[in-house]
Amino acid sequence: MPAPFPLGVYDSGVGGLSVLRAIRDILPREHLLYVADSAHVPYGEKTQEYVRQRALAVADYLVSRQAKAMVVACNTATAAAIAALRARHPDLVIIGVEPAIKPAAHLTRSGVVGVFATTGTLASPKFAALVQREAPEIRILFRPCPEWVLQVERGEIHGAAAAAAVAAPVRELLAEGADALVLGCTHFPFLREAIQDAAGSAVPLLETGAPVARRLRHQLQARGRLAADGAGAVELTTTGDAAALGRMAALLLGLPGVATRLPAAWC
Ligand code: DGL
Repeated sequence: MPAPFPLGVYDSGVGGLSVLRAIRDILPREHLLYVADSAHVPYGEKTQEYVRQRALAVADYLVSRQAKAMVVACNTATAAAIAALRARHPDLVIIGVEPAIKPAAHLTRSGVVGVFATTGTLASPKFAALVQREAPEIRILFRPCPEWVLQVERGEIHGAAAAAAVAAPVRELLAEGADALVLGCTHFPFLREAIQDAAGSAVPLLETGAPVARRLRHQLQARGRLAADGAGAVELTTTGDAAALGRMAALLLGLPGVATRLPAAWC
């Protein structure tokens, strides 16, 4: 029997598991329904319209499962689709993620902040508005890293392969004066160790999993919709290869590696 009223957590692939981890930490009683749109990953280089259509399809699936909230655990999909999602499902709690520009602007001493994200996020009007609103005085260096998304999707998050992938982009932004780095894609926290090694321990790396989880808790609390008792579970679903998602969830989060494929209508 599927769990009633799960919290939907959605990403193009496995990146949103970094957000799911933060949600599970503070809401251990909730049933989390993770949707990886793996048949369409990566989103970062696709058009906004393409990503919007995918996000709407996933939202329809979550509503069909009676989800009480949808966390768009993907910066690219948030930028492309959050307004359309809220318009289509006005009664659903919908929480998006955005690169952590505001805390980075507070932390920087050099006045230069580096942002790693997808091309789609960095090119979006929503991101431009965020920078304008939260950091008008700060010099923001944009660095699209689509190859990091694929690196994480392959599970190459440790060792020499990860170090080689992150070295040049990190070096570039530090050389231009950045002293705070924003991980503006939910895949990138899984490369945190390699990025921190390349940047040095003094450079803060900012991500958004924990604040997003707190916002979700706050909104559910305000509506009286937090799970009251029992132990929550994680249900893993994908539009792509279920066995591959199961393996990745085990590798990245130590979750039991069982996943299912969504019915064709949603893929
Ligand atoms: N995890 C995603 C994000 O936060 C998207 C990565 C991709 O599919 O390109 O932007």
